[in-house]
Amino acid sequence: MQAIGSSQLCKDVDAQALAVAVFKDESASDGLLKTLDKATGGLISRVLETEEFAAKAGETAYFHLSGNGLKAGRLLLIGCGERDAYKAAQISRMAGTASRFLRSKNAKSIAIAPRADDDVGKVAQTAMVGAIMGLFEPDKYRTKDKEERELEQIAVVIEGGDKKALKRGADRGRIIGEAANFTRDLANEPGGYLTPTILAARAQKVAKQFGLGIDVLDQRQMEKLGMGSLLGVSRGSDEPPKLIVMKYEPRKPGRKQKGLLALVGKGITFDSGGISLKPGENMELMKYDMTGAATVIGAMQAIAQLKPSIPVLGVAPCSENLPSGKATKPGDILKAMTGKTIEVINTDAEGRLVLADAIAYAKKLGATQIIDMATLTGAVSIALGDVNTAILGTDQTLIDQVIEAGKEVGEKFWQLPLDDEYSNQIKSDIADIKNIGGKKAGTITAAAFLKEFADDTSWAHLDIAGTAWGDTAQPYRAKGPTGIAVRTLIEFIESSARQNGN
Ligand code: BES
Ligand code: MN
Ligand code: ZN
Repeated sequence: MQAIGSSQLCKDVDAQALAVAVFKDESASDGLLKTLDKATGGLISRVLETEEFAAKAGETAYFHLSGNGLKAGRLLLIGCGERDAYKAAQISRMAGTASRFLRSKNAKSIAIAPRADDDVGKVAQTAMVGAIMGLFEPDKYRTKDKEERELEQIAVVIEGGDKKALKRGADRGRIIGEAANFTRDLANEPGGYLTPTILAARAQKVAKQFGLGIDVLDQRQMEKLGMGSLLGVSRGSDEPPKLIVMKYEPRKPGRKQKGLLALVGKGITFDSGGISLKPGENMELMKYDMTGAATVIGAMQAIAQLKPSIPVLGVAPCSENLPSGKATKPGDILKAMTGKTIEVINTDAEGRLVLADAIAYAKKLGATQIIDMATLTGAVSIALGDVNTAILGTDQTLIDQVIEAGKEVGEKFWQLPLDDEYSNQIKSDIADIKNIGGKKAGTITAAAFLKEFADDTSWAHLDIAGTAWGDTAQPYRAKGPTGIAVRTLIEFIESSARQNGN
């Protein structure tokens, strides 16, 4: 796939199809629409005047043109809603709608005019990420009716824009979009095809291809380290656990560089609930319980190419959660690497158990700032649905920075409180803590559990259980894994690097 940033006039762009953003209540009498209206013999004004197209978000109008002033033979108008509300998320969706729609019409080369007046490089990047993410399909195991059409070239067009900024934005957008799609591909893999061992091998492949350090700890090494919490989860399974540790080191560290950021992601390649077995309905979805780990690996893949000036550690504790004669039972007590003892009340609250040792291990490797991400609780969907990702933590500055990075790229985060009182809910009668906190505030008590291990480190936790999977297809996105948080983490890291003085 070729990703291009073009400063040409839309009417001169050499592509089979041109997609243009159109806003609510716009007329064809000025700006780019006027030019295009002229070039198409008044097509745009007719489409708007007849009110067949109201430019609602996601709405499309598609035309084949002949003998006109547009070099592209096909034109796609994409409704983008109110101009004032046209921010990163909307730009990205517009571009995703363009690539998805035009691929379905078998176009091979397309040009996208996002028409945003923000910084050129940034708009090109945002649109390219959206266009590439729009192309993701979860149908790799179909042998029939599979989407086999392929776009070969995507150009983002900003008329008269700075050429260097456009090229850089398009290149960066391709890197980020491909990383997010890589994460989605992993999230989509069934448990039978993506065991902890295979996930670790995929991470190793990424590390080799893009030049990252990698270390995969096996069961014996974890035993030596005393990771009884993580190993308590993997015990029930025939597949051995893996702890993936990736490291990005900048060639030229920033001047003010201090500390080490670690991304930690839950990698349960299948969550049956263990002895506290889940109900059968929708259990197949629990293949995506490794999305946190996939998000870490995807973000690291992009970081390796974008080369920010700060080092980043990626840690992914990977295991299955299955019932067997060897499995941890409700009532059992596990001893985590930190020495803390955990009473397991419910074996289905396994994510926090693997993260406990992974967070402790990240600290052991020198992490001073930790962001973990996990499909941790069903409760988060009850609280926030599939719109906002929950964020909680101990460092308000860090939390604010992640929320801000999310705004930059068009991903929403909503902070939930983490007062000390919630920790009362995870007090155990017989051990230091227990692994569930009762019915109330399930997302918060899960975070309160993790806080026991992050301790005094600057820490933020993202519960992506509600946002990592899209139950319905959108014009800009296939049904299935969404790649949530990959973009935000990359933006957060790059913005931290800028603050550290590149
Ligand atoms: N992986 C699940 C959480 C989940 C649920 C993710 C639905 C995605 C969609 C997690 O391991 C889990 O089972 N959590 C339990 C915790 C409970 C036992 C305290 C839950 O949310 O029900
Ligand atoms: Mn579970
Ligand atoms: Zn789980």
